Amino acid sequence: MPRSPRPDDKFSFGLWTVGWTGADPFGSATRPALDPWEYADRLAELGAWGISFHDDDVHDFADDDETRALRLGRLADACRASGLVIEMVTTNTFSHPVFKDGGLTSNDRGVRRFGLRKILRAVDVAAELGATTFVMWGGREGTEYDGSKDLLAAFDRYKEGLDTVAGYIKERGYDLRIALEPKPNEPRGDILLPTVGHALALIAELEHGDVVGLNPETGHEQMANLNFTHQLAQALWSDKLFHLDLNGQRGLKYDQDLVFGHGDLLSAFFTVDLLENGFPGHPDGPRYTGPRHFDYKPSRTEHLAGVWASAQACMSTYLGLAEKAAAFRADPRVVEAMAYAGVPDLAQPTLAPGETAADLLAAPAGLDVPAAAERDYGFVRLNQLAVEHLIG
Ligand code: GCO
Ligand code: MN
Ligand code: MN
Repeated sequence: MPRSPRPDDKFSFGLWTVGWTGADPFGSATRPALDPWEYADRLAELGAWGISFHDDDVHDFADDDETRALRLGRLADACRASGLVIEMVTTNTFSHPVFKDGGLTSNDRGVRRFGLRKILRAVDVAAELGATTFVMWGGREGTEYDGSKDLLAAFDRYKEGLDTVAGYIKERGYDLRIALEPKPNEPRGDILLPTVGHALALIAELEHGDVVGLNPETGHEQMANLNFTHQLAQALWSDKLFHLDLNGQRGLKYDQDLVFGHGDLLSAFFTVDLLENGFPGHPDGPRYTGPRHFDYKPSRTEHLAGVWASAQACMSTYLGLAEKAAAFRADPRVVEAMAYAGVPDLAQPTLAPGETAADLLAAPAGLDVPAAAERDYGFVRLNQLAVEHLIG
């Protein structure tokens, strides 16, 4: 059993995770709903450091300003009392039928203006409650049918919306960064910004892209058949890994939002290894220092006790994998296998300092091609060492 979670582990949960009552497209709720502050209290008791929420997780879509302020205030008080940090706030622009064709990219301009106002109001709430990340998951920004959207305009409107929100954050001087959350599909047939790479490409086109980064989710990248750890690595390399959603997914199917580690466990091992130990051989390389944020759904077969057990499981599995990953990195057999595999050699630039493409062409080939073609890399042995640390 790994040790108990501590605040400095920076474990954080969305209120909508433990707060999921089990309603899905085929069945109604299987658990009662608690008040948001009750979820927060219990998460604090379990050793979480922070929470996150959508505007509508705390109050109803239609609540008046007074009720909103009351409920947000009550949650903030509960967090203050239990020492929980409200680290991230986001907007629900997907549940209400008005958003059936999206928020920022709805074909209906009135809906786009309404959606943008809802997002800006949530930005104010985020800043007021001290959150430092503002996630934007455009779950309804997409289509079922290719002919239903002017895609050129959709990207223009997405950019317009993001730049408006980012510009507003700057104008107000808020200590807040936007983190885009990609997902390939569900609830839309196809969602715009389907993967980390697509989001990075859009950010590069923004006027205020400096305050916009990524919130990659394990299962979402895996739904696109991608390697989650690679997606995290590229976001980190691009200095854009602002936040993350850890969970589990078993293959190409609907978004399962399983407990962290309950999907591809070996992939979870390397995810934790990257998050905890950074890139191997790069002690000064980019590191992720943000919240270890879980976005999962406690299965609808579970009672409330099972909800808390599943939240504990996310943290416990993370801590267990962190221990294993540390042991993996420290194992002399691993160091040797990595050296044999040439892992540290990739850090050496391919060209010599000052060398040009012409210089390279003019230089003797310098490679014993048959010997290089013959070379053994030993990647399987290296991976088996990871497996043995994982199950050992
Ligand atoms: C999903 C998404 C959502 C978002 C959340 C934040 O499972 O499809 O992860 O849970 O993360 O709504 O906006
Ligand atoms: Mn998900
Ligand atoms: Mn998510």
